[in-house]
Parts: sequence; C-alpha cells; structure tokens
Amino acid sequence: MSLIPSIADNANVVVIGASGGIGAALTEQLANDSRVAVVHALARADLEHTSPSVKNGHIDITDEQSIQAAAAGCAAPAGVDLVIVATGVLHRSGEVRPEKRMLELDARVMGEVFAINAIAPALIGKHFLPLMGRGRKTVFAALSARVGSISDNRLGGWLSYRASKAALNMLLKTLAIEQSRTRPDSLVVGLHPGTVDTDLSRPFQQNVPGDKLFTPAFAAGCLLRVIDGLSGPDNGGIFAWDGKSIDY
Ligand SMILES: NC(=O)c1ccc[n+]([C@@H]2O[C@H](COP(=O)([O-])OP(=O)(O)OC[C@H]3O[C@@H](n4cnc5c(N)ncnc54)[C@H](OP(=O)(O)O)[C@@H]3O)[C@@H](O)[C@H]2O)c1
Repeated sequence: MSLIPSIADNANVVVIGASGGIGAALTEQLANDSRVAVVHALARADLEHTSPSVKNGHIDITDEQSIQAAAAGCAAPAGVDLVIVATGVLHRSGEVRPEKRMLELDARVMGEVFAINAIAPALIGKHFLPLMGRGRKTVFAALSARVGSISDNRLGGWLSYRASKAALNMLLKTLAIEQSRTRPDSLVVGLHPGTVDTDLSRPFQQNVPGDKLFTPAFAAGCLLRVIDGLSGPDNGGIFAWDGKSIDY
C-alpha cells in the first residue's frame, strides 16, 4: 500500500531530521510504503531505523559542508523523488524559549532560531534541489508552521519562531520559482503538521484540546497524503495537514 501513489515507483526519498517526533514517524511510514525503494534517514545523532529500505546517515544542518556531503550520499542516477525537511527549533532547554513580548528579544537566540528554521532549509534546498529527478513529479517539502503566516498573526508573541517560519516561507516560494525553470515537474512547498505531540510542542500543549493534539504517526500520514495530492499550481505554496492552503 502507498500513501504517495503520485510519486514514481521505486522512489528515492530523503527525510532530514529523522530523529525528531514527526521526522521519525515520516521515516517509518515511508519505509513501509510500497512505492519507496530507499529512505535516506538523516540526522545529527546516530539513528537506528532498522527497516531494510532505510539508510541511516548524518547531517548537521548548521554546517553547509555537512549538508553538501549528505546530499552527495543521497544522489542517484535517476534522481531523488522526495525530500522532507523535518528539522526545526522552538525551544532548547534553558537557552532558547519563545518570546512572550518584545522585551525578551535576544539577538543570539534569534540568530540560532533563524539559522535552524530558515537558513538551514534554504541551504538544504541549494544542495538537494539540483538532485531531483526530471520528467516526473518530485517534491521538496519543508515543515513550516501556521504561526509563520503574516496575515494569520492575531496574537503576537513567539517573535523569533514566527519570523523564522515567515522567512522560510519566502525562501521556499523563491526556491520554487527558480526550480520550476529547470524542472517544471519539481514542486517546492511548506507544510504545517498541526499541533503534534513531540518534544517541540510539549511545553506548550496545556491549552490544546485533546482532539487537536495529533500523534506523530497521524500527522505523518496526513502530510504524506498532502504531498501526494500536490500538483503544478501548488508550487511554492504552504499547506496544512488537511491539505488546505495557508496564506503567507
Ligand atoms: N510539533 C508541532 O506541534 C509542530 C507544529 C508546527 C510546526 N512544527 C514543525 O515541524 C518540524 C518538526 O518538529 P517536531 O515537532 O518533530 O520537533 P522535534 O521532535 O523537536 O524534532 C526536531 C528535529 O529537528 C532537529 N534539529 C533541531 N535543531 C537541529 C540542529 N541544529 N541540527 C540538526 N538537527 C536539528 C532535531 O534533531 P535532534 O534530535 O538531534 O535534536 C529533530 O530531528 C519543525 O520544523 C517544527 O517547527 C511542529
């Protein structure tokens, strides 16, 4: 059975951030997908995904040489079919936490959040988009967030995270335009997974109703279905877990 029948058979797919809550669930579902031949599961930590179709690999997304080396390890004569960037940061113990107000802004924290959430996915695009297959639908998807939508911002707060995801959305749109010039069937999109029960959201789940807090497995299945439903006009867009478009 396949959740991504619109992707070519024997697909060569890549999950970056395969150690994360959503990244691990995506890796597992892709490893069991009948259309997928190889899943490159990349993370900065050593991984132990044991499925025969999974190739565990290393990537440090804050080091461009590491991104370049990881891309070389995923390259194949027929090209890459699907890349999902599932990395991201909202908080880091004691050091990084989302700002409630402007007085909490700190340039070092902002720099780290932008480096991981916006600059790294752009550099991943730089090295992986030229590897995408030609003449068939391929997808490069980075996990964004609804709070990165400027038009949807009614509450304020979380300044660095919001702004880094808004920057990511602009970078994805710009990469999408450039990629379409050489590979018209190659799509670049941002995806919002919903609120998912992972380390990233755990400190902020108290006001989330139970039916709105997704398991990583549920979110991963939804995201793969959204990827499957994408077509040419969707290039450069941002889509939620239910397939609905999110305004920039
Ligand atoms: N969970 C939600 O409710 C939610 C909602 C909206 C959007 N998102 C987005 O979904 C994506 C995945 O989030 P998640 O919930 O799965 O979070 P998670 O479980 O915390 O996973 C985050 C992933 O990012 C990796 N990462 C973070 N900093 C890194 C760095 N400097 N270098 C390399 N890898 C790094 C982590 O690697 P390590 O394991 O090595 O730390 C991990 O694989 C993020 O972009 C997030 O913004 C999540």
